[in-house]
This record gives sequence, C-alpha cells and structure tokens, in this order.
Amino acid sequence: MSLLSGTSSAIEERIVAASILTDRYGRAITDLRVSITDHCNYRCVYCRTGNEGSQYSELPMADYLRMVRVFVSLGIEKVRLTGGEPLLRKGLVDFVRELARLRAAKTGEPLDIALTTNGHLLQDLAHPLKEAGLTRITVSMDAVDPVTFARITRVPGSFERVLAGIRAAQRAGLNPVKVNCVLLRGFNDDQVVGFAKFAREERVIVRFIEFMPLEEDRLWTPESVIPLREVVQRLESFRPVVRLSPNNASETAVRYTFDDGIGEIGIIAPVSQAFCGQCSRLRLTSDGKVRTCLFSQFDHDLYGVMKRGGSDSDLAAYIERTVALKEARHHIGEAEFLKPSRTMVHIGG
Ligand code: 5AD
Ligand code: SF4
Repeated sequence: MSLLSGTSSAIEERIVAASILTDRYGRAITDLRVSITDHCNYRCVYCRTGNEGSQYSELPMADYLRMVRVFVSLGIEKVRLTGGEPLLRKGLVDFVRELARLRAAKTGEPLDIALTTNGHLLQDLAHPLKEAGLTRITVSMDAVDPVTFARITRVPGSFERVLAGIRAAQRAGLNPVKVNCVLLRGFNDDQVVGFAKFAREERVIVRFIEFMPLEEDRLWTPESVIPLREVVQRLESFRPVVRLSPNNASETAVRYTFDDGIGEIGIIAPVSQAFCGQCSRLRLTSDGKVRTCLFSQFDHDLYGVMKRGGSDSDLAAYIERTVALKEARHHIGEAEFLKPSRTMVHIGG
C-alpha cells in the first residue's frame, strides 16, 4: 500500500514538474497579467490619446476565469489584474473571490492576486476587494501636485480621488500599497523629491518607472525618459539614499531607502537597465490574446481556441506552444526597434 501510494505520488510530482512553464531561454513563467478591460476613465498623456473614438473590447468574466484556471494548472503563481482601468469592470470582486479559490500547481498555496489601478474608484472598492482575497495593490499616480496630476490624467480633481483611494486601501489592510509613477521629462520630472516625501509620510512604496514607447500618441523620445541614475541624483538632493537588496530573483525594481531607513523607493528601469533576462511574465489581453512580451509584434489568440470549442487541454497545449515563442528581450533604443503591435492600454500593464 505504502509502495503504491509512493508510486502514484511520484507520478503526480512528475506531472506537476512537467507542467511548469519554462521558455526556451530557461525562464520560468510564473506571473500572468490579465487585462479585464481596455476601457479607462483617465487619459494619461503617456498612455492614451486625447482624442475620443477608441474601440474597446472585453470578454465575460467567466471566460477570463476559465483561461486563468488553465494558466494556473500550468504553473502560474501570481495573477495581476490590469486594464485599461480594472475597477470599471462589474463583477470584479466576485472574480477576485473565484481567483482566491485557485491553488498554485507546484506548491498548493493560494495564488498571489494583485491589481493595478488608477485609484479613481478605489475608495469604495478597496475593502470588498481585500475581503474577496486580493493580496496586493498598485496605484498609478504620476504627480503629488494636484495641478500637475490633472494635467497628466486630463481629469480635473483626480488627485484627491486617488489619494482617498490609496488611504482606503491602507485602511482595508492592503499594505504596503505601491504607487507607480511614470516619469516624463517636461511633465513630472520635478516631482521626484515630492514623491520621496510622500512615500515617507503616507507609508507607501513609491516606484518610478522609465517611460516606454507604448503610448497611443507619439510622445516617446530617448530624451523623454528619466533614467534611473538621474532619479537617484534627484533623490540624493533630498537625502542620501541607501540601496536595498532585491526581494526575489525576478524583481523588476531596484530598491532604495534613505539614510534614516524611512521610506521605500523603487526604480523600474526597463529602458536603461532592461530586466528581460529575469522576465517571468505572460500577458492576457482584454480580448483574450496572449502576449509574450510588451513589445511583441504578435498576438496569440487563446480566446479563438476557446471559441472554436477547444477543451482545457487544447488551451493548455496552445499556451505551451505560445510560451516557446517568448522573445529574448526588447530592443528599445536600438536601430531595429519597432513599436509593438499594440499600445499599453490595449495590452495591459
Ligand atoms: N511607459 C511606462 N509605464 C507605463 N504605464 C502605462 N504606460 C506606460 C508607458 N508608456 C504604467 C502605468 C501603470 C502601469 C500598469 O504601467 O502608469 O502604473
Ligand atoms: Fe488609464 Fe492607466 Fe493608461 Fe492612465 S496609464 S490612461 S490610468 S490605462
């Protein structure tokens, strides 16, 4: 009996081991970003065009859930919900509750369920989301000065809403809240020290992100990017910074605190210090396409397989074939760089 059960568990182990997604560069794929809408209530200058008339696409939440289940059976351990603006989707809280029931294939642990939001609707949703099983939240906030903020989001009064959302998330126990700031020269590069103070006072982790060429308007130039070393210099003009060690191998942010240990700042530098070698990510777009890289020239139509009546094992096989096509790295700043076939709002952050 003990021999038998030993054998079957060995087989199970082999099945689980075989089902963990690894790409042809040996990178383990454990992190899935799911965009549940490409609709957004802000029109941030570095992302959306100011013109109306975009086409939106969304699938029923049950369809995302089925696809996520298959991804999880293949080894996905972290799911990040994005958009567009994910809080615009009805049924989001129930969706998170369903995700919280899933278990990682390798460890049997609950999934890490994160969400990236612009924070506009967070004040009322923070508590229900936490209760449903959300584990982490990132709020995009590109200025600590309300006038600059509204100039970037193109929505008056947005700063106050987002700040209230951040505080509600903290009260709901979604700590530490991360605040993402995309720095653009000429728009908000004067906000770095203000954000350092904000991180310390509000007890949030602020992360500066280098601007990537993923916007709908043609705004990106190499000069528009505020590179990591310049952010560090600006922080140093406030207080000496101290480098923190990475939390894990696939961490994208270089982390700092200040000489007194108060406040955490991360710098995400996909342009000046690309981290493609450690990439553990896949993306599912709001119309059900798999993207192997933000800068891919291709979509992989997983939803198409489902719509044609594919079984879960058909979906799994399709995902495995897609992972095999994951690009080694992006080519931002190189002569052969081509803009990706979709902009950020239609990929999911
Ligand atoms: N470059 C860098 N970051 C971007 N984001 C959106 N567009 C860009 C871009 N072109 C950020 C958002 C959000 C996260 C999902 O990605 O601000 O925090
Ligand atoms: Fe909306 Fe986020 Fe794009 Fe801003 S960055 S327009 S909040 S999707």
